[in-house]
Amino acid sequence: MTDEKLRETLLAHIHDVPDYPKPGVMFKDITPLLADAKAFGLLTDTFAELCERLGATKVVGLEARGFILGAPAAVRAGIGFIPVRKAGKLPGACLAQSYELEYGTAEIEMHADAVGPGDRVLVIDDVLATGGTAEAALQLIRRAGAEVAGVAVLMELGFLDGRRRLAEGLGDAPLEAL
Ligand code: PRP
Repeated sequence: MTDEKLRETLLAHIHDVPDYPKPGVMFKDITPLLADAKAFGLLTDTFAELCERLGATKVVGLEARGFILGAPAAVRAGIGFIPVRKAGKLPGACLAQSYELEYGTAEIEMHADAVGPGDRVLVIDDVLATGGTAEAALQLIRRAGAEVAGVAVLMELGFLDGRRRLAEGLGDAPLEAL
């Protein structure tokens, strides 16, 4: 399948919901995509192929929709899945990373022993917006001693310039937006 055909198929299953969760925001609803086994399978295959192409040894998924998209891709690629969660949700010893929001800060965590030296980690999420969440995830991965294989998202909201915010954390690794 060509990139253009893939893009068309994925877009056809993502619905725009105006004024959600607040007025002026156009929410990108991926639930129709998840409900369609063929489209979801295609997305999973694409992420799994990316894992293989980039030589990833682990997938990190970002709460919450990154779990839904990242976990099946990791299974299909035959590698482990690591959840990065909002603070206070993981039971073991964690590395924590805070990051700036438009107003205030947020914090995410990863189990400290989830990835380490020798790992190449692909971060998977649904949306790259400001890039704050993905940037913090890359910091966690590097602090754990692992290598960044890349970041892969279904959608990139280009007008928020998240790509630029990720440049340093990515280094030579790619950002793939399907
Ligand atoms: C959304 C989205 C990404 C993140 C992108 O998650 O799923 O994880 O925001 O935004 P950023 O690039 O500006 O950091 P959200 O924080 O809404 O969490 P949820 O998936 O648990 O609802």
